[in-house]
Formats: sequence, C-alpha cells, structure tokens
Amino acid sequence: MNYPLVAPSILSADFSDIAAGLAAIDRAGADWIHLDVMDGHFVPQITFGSKMVHDIRARTALPLDVHLMTSDPERLVPAFAEAGADYITFHAEACVHAHRAVQSIRECGKKAGVSIVPSTPAAAIAELLPFVDLVLVMTVNPGYGGQKLLPFCLDKVRELRSLRAARKLDFQIAVDGGVGPATINEVADARPDVLVVGSAFFDADDKKAVIRSLKAAYTGRSIVC
Ligand code: DX5
Ligand code: ZN
Repeated sequence: MNYPLVAPSILSADFSDIAAGLAAIDRAGADWIHLDVMDGHFVPQITFGSKMVHDIRARTALPLDVHLMTSDPERLVPAFAEAGADYITFHAEACVHAHRAVQSIRECGKKAGVSIVPSTPAAAIAELLPFVDLVLVMTVNPGYGGQKLLPFCLDKVRELRSLRAARKLDFQIAVDGGVGPATINEVADARPDVLVVGSAFFDADDKKAVIRSLKAAYTGRSIVC
C-alpha cells in the first residue's frame, strides 16, 4: 500500500450538490471517501444516514469509510453495511460492548474501525486492537469540520504504531480533524496510514495539489516502526 492514503470527507462538500463533490474526489485521485454520520446526540450536529451511503455507493468505486459519530452505534451497523460501506468505524466512547460491535461489523462482511476522541487515551482500546481493521484517532473534538488540529493527539498515533509493531498486529491508523497542507509536517512525523481531510480539500481550488502535497510529506521521512 502506498501510504498515506487520503480520504476526503464529504462533510465539507456542498450538501446540495454531493455528486459534484464526489466527482471532485474522484478526479483528484483520492484513495477513500470519508462519510461523517452525526446523530445530534453523540455530537451536536445531524448529517445523514445510510441512504446517503447507498446513493453514493452507486456513483463511485472508491472505498467508503463510514465514521459513525453516533450513540448506540451497534444498532446502525446492519443498515450501513447493507448500504455499501466498506469500513464502519464507531466511537469507543459511545459503546460499552465495543468488542461485540466490532464482531457485528465483521459478521456483516465489513472492515471494522474504532475511533477515540482527543480526551480518550489509546490504552482505552488496547484490548480491541487485535480485532479491528482501523483505528481512527480524532485530532479535533468531533462534530464540526474546519477546526484546528490538536497536536497532542498525534502522540497516540505514535503509541498505536509501536503497540502494533510490538504485538505484530495489522490495523491501519487514521487521523481525522484539522489535517491539510498547513499541518502535514507535524502529522507526517507521527506517520498515520490514512489522512482524513475535509475543509483543506474542499476549500482548495487545486484539489489534486492538496493530495500531492500530503503524500509528498511522507517521502524521505524515516520510519520508526
Ligand atoms: C469532524 C469529522 C471530520 C471532519 C474533518 O468531526 O469527523 O471527518 O470532516 O474536517 P476537517 O478536515 O475540516 O477538520
Ligand atoms: Zn470523520
């Protein structure tokens, strides 16, 4: 895999013209599409449900990376799986029985991700790591696009990378929030595998150049583990 993978978030696209947003993602050469599902309860805003994923599935061949910022995520897994999500990621903070949630995502034939907000330590998901495909480290408090990256969260990426190496696991590590050309140098030092990019992608005129500059930041950097 050619890391980092770049996953533009349609949260920053024009919701009245999602097709144009998808076309822009495809044209720019992105790797995944990140879909932020907000329920107005776990986070204050409400975005969209599984129908949006279903309709987007029909328009693109790119992997669909669904980020459930919802309470009681386990309840939603079958609908998003059926709609055509490839990755389904839920918040550790929203789910008491996180291992069971991972199992139900995998039973639906999907890749399972777990996410942690800035105030949750990586240790909180240590027991889950052998079972997940993706860990999504939030680098802002979830709920809105366009926020400023919180650099202390990048230490969790480093910690997860070393846990992964020490325990010979193979989940991918993503960062989400405030990632873009302006912050890529500090992000690339922690070397997450996947970069979720919302406003920095959609606000740019030259979207291809955004992806190019994010990927270029990894070239020539030494890999610690
Ligand atoms: C925030 C969402 C993000 C958001 C990132 O709660 O989970 O995926 O779209 O947006 P930017 O890149 O603008 O911080
Ligand atoms: Zn997200």
